[in-house]
Amino acid sequence: MITASAPGKIILFGEHAVVFGRAALAVPVTQLQARVNVSENSRGGIWIEAPNINLSSAIEELSPNHPLASVIYNVFSALSESHPPACTIYIQSTIPVASGLGSGAAVSVAIVRALSAYLGQPLPDERVNKLAFEAEKLHHGTPSGIDNTVITYIKPVYFIKGRPVKTFHVGAPFTIVIGDTGILAPTKESVRSVRKLWETDKPRWEKVFDRVGNIAWDARQAIERGDLTDLGNLMNANQILLQKMTVSCPELDRLVEAARKSGAYGAKLSGGGRGGNMITLVKKENAPAMAEALKSAGAKRTTVTQVE
Ligand code: MEV
Repeated sequence: MITASAPGKIILFGEHAVVFGRAALAVPVTQLQARVNVSENSRGGIWIEAPNINLSSAIEELSPNHPLASVIYNVFSALSESHPPACTIYIQSTIPVASGLGSGAAVSVAIVRALSAYLGQPLPDERVNKLAFEAEKLHHGTPSGIDNTVITYIKPVYFIKGRPVKTFHVGAPFTIVIGDTGILAPTKESVRSVRKLWETDKPRWEKVFDRVGNIAWDARQAIERGDLTDLGNLMNANQILLQKMTVSCPELDRLVEAARKSGAYGAKLSGGGRGGNMITLVKKENAPAMAEALKSAGAKRTTVTQVE
């Protein structure tokens, strides 16, 4: 049996504007993991088991465009494997789905790694990233590629679509508390609706995206200097622009407000929005109290992560 895993992720700055070519920052969240086992099976064929989504199926019973089936077929084709051996691909994940934490990309990366290793041809990161990006297009429509990139390389990334992957230096480690609204919100829909907005008034939205891109750039400098006060203010500024893009929602706003009232440096939604998760920057020693404050404001679950 071969096992591979891949972490979740959070977008620190720049979601949505990144789809339109602006800079964004993202970091892996290793407390959350997708794990894939590939093992021999005696019943023949390729079998997919994904208990988190109640899926137990032979691959040919799924549409070739099903995100799991397509990533598997793409691995076979990338490895010129025309007669793949019978196997069971078992997928498990602690990353909540449709919540902006990269569950789709993490599952794709873990499948590519486990399956290519099972077939005796483990793929390098660059090819893993490319194959996971193909699957992201099925999940998200017109994704930027940031999710699969941060999850493949498991490093903080300063990302601009189509440019070589850059990591950044973290001047002083910092603590983020993630709060989950519990509302399922597929990224595909919020990405589609931001695109619709952009189509109605391109000059206006291009300016908004420019401002987001500048915030991401400033945030990178603040992270490199270890300036948490600046970083928090930049989060708040980014949140205002995300609200303008209509991707926040009352539940996210309530958690963001609660975080600020409880002494956060700053807070914003993270990922596609319209539900899913928010993030807040706190002093390390305040993380447990912040997690409690977010729960009192309606968070269904909280995760504390250290960026270093
Ligand atoms: C999703 O994690 C981030 C978005 O910017 C979509 C994307 O970049 O593909 C909303």
